[in-house]
Amino acid sequence: MAATPTIDEAKLEEFMGRFVQDLGAAATAPLVVIGDKLGLYKAMADSAPVTPAELAERTGCRERYLREWLCQQAASGYVEYDPADGAFRLPPEQALALAHDDSPAFIPGAFQLMAAIVKDEPHITERFRSGEGFGWHEHDQDLFEGTERFFRPGYLANLTESWLPSLDGVVEKLVAGARVADIGCGHGASTILMAQAYPASTFVGTDYHEESVDAARRAAERAGVADRITFEVSSAKALAGGPYDLVCVFDALHDMGDPVGAARQVRSRLADDGTWMVVEPFAGDAIEDNLNPVGRVFYAGSTMLCTPASLSQEVGLALGAQAGEQRLAEVLHEGGFSRVRRAAETPFNLVLEVRP
Ligand SMILES: C[S@@+](CC[C@H](N)C(=O)[O-])C[C@H]1O[C@@H](n2cnc3c(N)ncnc32)[C@H](O)[C@@H]1O
Repeated sequence: MAATPTIDEAKLEEFMGRFVQDLGAAATAPLVVIGDKLGLYKAMADSAPVTPAELAERTGCRERYLREWLCQQAASGYVEYDPADGAFRLPPEQALALAHDDSPAFIPGAFQLMAAIVKDEPHITERFRSGEGFGWHEHDQDLFEGTERFFRPGYLANLTESWLPSLDGVVEKLVAGARVADIGCGHGASTILMAQAYPASTFVGTDYHEESVDAARRAAERAGVADRITFEVSSAKALAGGPYDLVCVFDALHDMGDPVGAARQVRSRLADDGTWMVVEPFAGDAIEDNLNPVGRVFYAGSTMLCTPASLSQEVGLALGAQAGEQRLAEVLHEGGFSRVRRAAETPFNLVLEVRP
């Protein structure tokens, strides 16, 4: 019989302290979703103090529920509470992060995505036993919008400001008028931002998920760029058209069952002097490099979304969301590209310039 391990009381206490933090963070997720869906943060965006009754008047929601929600948000540090007048206030910094969809710091989309993951837990638990995949399209509806709203702030902050300029000669081509494909485009946030910035270029956004493509089309109409974007339902391996001067894949390569097959298709549709921009979650090559707060989020997403998505498709390579640059480069080389260079990075993203 194995000896009973000795318990270090101090370590246990430290871990339980962390548990309280983690439980609080997990419990806060549905409250952020509620604040976002009901417009509570937006109703407090002026950062003026507000009582639960005043917030009820502004939003049409019930005062008793709002009081409880506000107290939890104050305990979370999302709003401030002043006992002198019993009022709560959303500080300007939190307002930027919680109330303004177009802020590069906007975070409710991330919680919307996490809430979708929790709702799908029974399916993924079952897949651990069966080994089967679970397609992106099979998830709760909130995943699709949540993903767009989570990723878009990062694209707003980086795409035209730093990622595209980090690629050799690409911005000049986009300004002059280039042909661009955005594969696995989801709701088309990245495609639309590029179309707004480079009106002389034409864009094709593709995704295998029909509902996402429909949402992307509607978003392009709303943004007034439908004249220069076509959204099509297509698997990456069936990419049509071209030759493209620029192909982009934003956070989707590792979700594909056959990223090597997708790379071969991109190669066949890319102009000889074209560039492929691959944006993937930031990750080091070794597991131990990713055992940090960002890796924690991505390994969770990878377990619940990315790995099952890849396993649901042909080949089922299951790169995972933390594949690392070296593994990504292997896939891209196998797909027919000889030059792979890290062009840019943020705490969340790795940007690779990939050329024939
Ligand atoms: C994490 S989401 C990223 C969506 C979008 N690029 C963005 O940044 O908001 C991954 C996307 O890849 C799409 N996808 C997965 N496998 C695909 C495949 N084989 N071909 C085309 N799209 C695929 C999914 O439908 C989903 O929209």
